[in-house]
Amino acid sequence: MIAPTSLHTNASTSGMDSFRTLTQFLRDIDHPRSPLVLAEQILSNLSAASQYPHGTLYVIDQEHHCFRPLHTQGPVEALPIPPIVALDHPLIRNLARHQHILDATTLASLPDLACQDNSPAAMFGTLPYTLVIPLMTRGKLLAFALLQSQLKSPLLIPMTMELLSAMAQGAANALDSLLMYEDLRQSQALMRRTDRLRSLEIIAGGFAHEIRNPLTSIKTFIQLAPERKDDTHFIGEFSRIVLDDVNRIERLIQEILDYARYMEPQLTDEDLNDIVMSCLYFIQVKAERHGIKIEKELAPELPRGMLDRQQIKQVLLNLLLNAMDAIGEKPGIIRVRTHQLQKPEGDHWMQVEIEDTGHGIASENLEHIFDPFFTTKHTSTLNEGTGLGLTIAHQIIQEHRGEMHVSSEVGQGTTFRITLPTQRQ
Ligand SMILES: Nc1ncnc2c1ncn2[C@@H]1O[C@H](COP(=O)(O)OP(=O)(O)OP(=O)(O)O)[C@@H](O)[C@H]1O
Ligand SMILES: [Mg+2]
Repeated sequence: MIAPTSLHTNASTSGMDSFRTLTQFLRDIDHPRSPLVLAEQILSNLSAASQYPHGTLYVIDQEHHCFRPLHTQGPVEALPIPPIVALDHPLIRNLARHQHILDATTLASLPDLACQDNSPAAMFGTLPYTLVIPLMTRGKLLAFALLQSQLKSPLLIPMTMELLSAMAQGAANALDSLLMYEDLRQSQALMRRTDRLRSLEIIAGGFAHEIRNPLTSIKTFIQLAPERKDDTHFIGEFSRIVLDDVNRIERLIQEILDYARYMEPQLTDEDLNDIVMSCLYFIQVKAERHGIKIEKELAPELPRGMLDRQQIKQVLLNLLLNAMDAIGEKPGIIRVRTHQLQKPEGDHWMQVEIEDTGHGIASENLEHIFDPFFTTKHTSTLNEGTGLGLTIAHQIIQEHRGEMHVSSEVGQGTTFRITLPTQRQ
């Protein structure tokens, strides 16, 4: 529960008090942690300023064309409006049109808002006094606070109404920026997922190849088992092999599912070499098909690090696929190296390098390759690049407190270097 800014009763609210309340409120809501925390702050402060102790803050849900309650304080009874309010509800139309606070008297005088409710509270006229405060930005209704009091309608003097309007304006601005930020975060998550799904096609190719051998061995065992059923050595030995193969297929399926499914980023203690190997498995079929040789040099004693396994895979796959695209149809080599690094300050880091013998990057493009939507792959609509691969890779590495660098020479090839912190800092 967030303590509302301290307030005086509205009868004694002087201009100075209002000013102090307002500035304190604006300061409080300046850096909200989440929409829910902000909603709680807005509601508790509007409620304290108006002396209507209970209420609900409704916020617009653009996608579903309605207003939904985001936070409720105290018991809110027999509301004359539905729990989810459609954009064409008379209350919404009224707030959007008049853009000012509706108090109990105004609400009662609005014919299209008359309570249709047959509850005892409605019939005996014991409905709580209601106040509706619109939160508007740029002429648009973003939210509204519905406040209630069981007491005989607390009188709202003009200065309190002005204070509430000013607070509502500040609240609307804060809510607007927060919702925009949340939208941006969701679009970023969507971008990452789209990028990941693009590489799934390659992974699926690798998967089909990887399970072919274990499946052949399982099939052979099933074919031979009836005639060799008395050969205990054969049955014992082959059962063990088949079980290993089934486990391997299960692990591969899990790897693909984990990669495809979007999960909240999660840092776990990982071996970078292991992640590199898992990516190489998946791309080797495509590489072989294009006559690309993959050479790997993985440091045996690489320290472990706290990494998000699926995100690092996404980064490496992006780099490997870019390297293959750059080599194109002629034979080429991709070299993947890992090693330990000790920075001058003594910290231990690990580095992974992906080097290719592709066409390289022109110097005028080099400074743009991490920009969103920068791509030179316009060849066909089917294989057109999104230009998001490196942007996302860069973001992911930064979120791991790592670094990503590139060096390239046209006609010679390109090297990407990623440095990541280790457990042994
Ligand atoms: N290894 C590389 N060699 C040469 N150019 C590269 C290499 N990696 C990236 N680039 C250049 O950087 C651009 C941006 O790469 P990025 O991965 O962000 O997008 P993309 O590969 O074009 O699209 P997508 O990743 O969606 O397929 C590429 O279009 C290419 O011009
Ligand atoms: Mg790419």
